[in-house]
Amino acid sequence: MKSSGKKPSSKENQNLVRAARKAMTHAYAPYSHFRVGAAFLTSKGELFSGCNVENASYGLSNCAERTAIFAAIAQLGPKLNIRAVAVVNDQGVPCSPCGACRQVIYEFGPDATIFFQSANGWKESHITELLPEGFRLK
Ligand code: THU
Repeated sequence: MKSSGKKPSSKENQNLVRAARKAMTHAYAPYSHFRVGAAFLTSKGELFSGCNVENASYGLSNCAERTAIFAAIAQLGPKLNIRAVAVVNDQGVPCSPCGACRQVIYEFGPDATIFFQSANGWKESHITELLPEGFRLK
C-alpha cells in the first residue's frame, strides 16, 4: 500500500465523519432515497463538507464528494490540497466514492486518504488504491 504523507489521526477521522453526517442531513435525494455526506480536510487543516444533490434528469445528480470539493474551490480558490476524505450514507451500507469522484479527488488530493464503509466495515484507502493510473494533465 502506498503510504500517504499525513494520514489522519483517529480524532481527525471522527471529526470528518461527524461533519459528513451533518452534511448528509442536507442531501436532496428524492429519487434514490440514498442520502450521502462527505467531508474532507485540507493540508492546512480546513474542513469542508457536502451532500448529494439529485435531479429529475438523473444523470445531472451530483455526489456528496464533488459537492464538497466544488464548494471548497468556490470558497478558497483553486489552490486546494485534500488530505483526507470521509464518506457516509444514511443506510449504513458499503459506499466508496464513485469513479468520477475518485478522479476529482485525485485532481486535488493525489496523496489523499479516503475513509469509507466497505463490505468489511470501515476502511481507509489511499486514493491511488481506489484509482490506479489516475489522469493528470500537469
Ligand atoms: N452518491 C454519492 O453522493 N456518493 C457516493 O460515493 C456514491 C453515490 C449518490 C449519488 C446519488 O445521488 C445516490 O448516491 C445514489 O446513487
